[in-house]
Amino acid sequence: AQSLAALGLRHGLQVGTAVDLAVLNDANDPQYRRLAASEFSSVTAENAMKWESLEPTRGVYDWAAADQLVEFARRNKQSVRGHVLVWHNQLPTWLTSGVADGSISKQELRELLRKHISTVVKRYKGKIWQWDVVNEAVSDPWDTPSTLHYKGFWAQNLGPGYIADAFRWARAADPRALLFYNDYNIEAFGSGNPADDKSQFVYDMVKGLRAQGVPIDGVGSQGHLGTQYGNYDTLQVTAALKKFGSLGVATAFTEVDVRSELPDPGDSAEINPRLQASAANFSVLMKACLAVRSCLSYTVWGFTDRHSWVPGWFSDPPQGMATIYDENYQPKRAYHELKSDL
Ligand code: XIL
Repeated sequence: AQSLAALGLRHGLQVGTAVDLAVLNDANDPQYRRLAASEFSSVTAENAMKWESLEPTRGVYDWAAADQLVEFARRNKQSVRGHVLVWHNQLPTWLTSGVADGSISKQELRELLRKHISTVVKRYKGKIWQWDVVNEAVSDPWDTPSTLHYKGFWAQNLGPGYIADAFRWARAADPRALLFYNDYNIEAFGSGNPADDKSQFVYDMVKGLRAQGVPIDGVGSQGHLGTQYGNYDTLQVTAALKKFGSLGVATAFTEVDVRSELPDPGDSAEINPRLQASAANFSVLMKACLAVRSCLSYTVWGFTDRHSWVPGWFSDPPQGMATIYDENYQPKRAYHELKSDL
């Protein structure tokens, strides 16, 4: 049978996965490495390229895990999505506490960010296909204040200008990598009211950056979905990709998973409703990506329920079953549906 990678390539589409380096190196779990190598044409570090992983102690970079991922990709002829240069989460404690106690000034913080981006991007120059330069910079309607705004550590300390700076610094360090803005809850455009429409906010942001000549090449739509929220609509998701693409940027689904509430009551019917709804949502995003020229890649955020961030992250209520293989590496309905889309 053909892999997702091989089927994707027939459309010029890369099918990727996030990779947990600890599991990849676990000799007792060889299936993980085998499937990561054989089913996907692109890989992303689930955590290994985040700032807290790379520079846990100020001035001391630990490249081991990130290097391993890049080497794994080279050996398996896979492209790499670099993730992530600027994000408000998983920052090293020395950085956040230094800012909090005033020992790191705003000016120094900006310089630290410039140096971080430049150091990381240069190390992997020529080896990264797409970089997530800025991640999750925009608030959600349920945040306070509910008016959409630039949220989090970087906006609070440096103001929104850090976004343009970050893209410029990344471009200078590797002129050939495609530079992405990446976010969740932008899979579709909502009510049409810009004030509560995150997709529209991101669209306006990217449009503004492009108009200022900021080197942004792509919009990554994460695609963290849940079956409890119902099914996305293929035409609506297609329209959203087209709208972002109309700005002259590439698009991609970068972190697709579709979680469900646990425990799963299952069903006496032949088809488990959660597995079916999950498959349907995976498929909607794939169909949309295939229908739109700008959509370069479709990456799942982990490929097996054995190793997924969902149960650890979404515990109230407990959630899981979010990936395309079950805990025993058996392909689920979502896997088969993706294959039939391809
Ligand atoms: C998640 C990882 O999967 C977890 O292992 C980690 O504990 C927290 O971060 N959006 C992103 C990803 O951009 O980096 C996040 O990854 C999931 C949400």
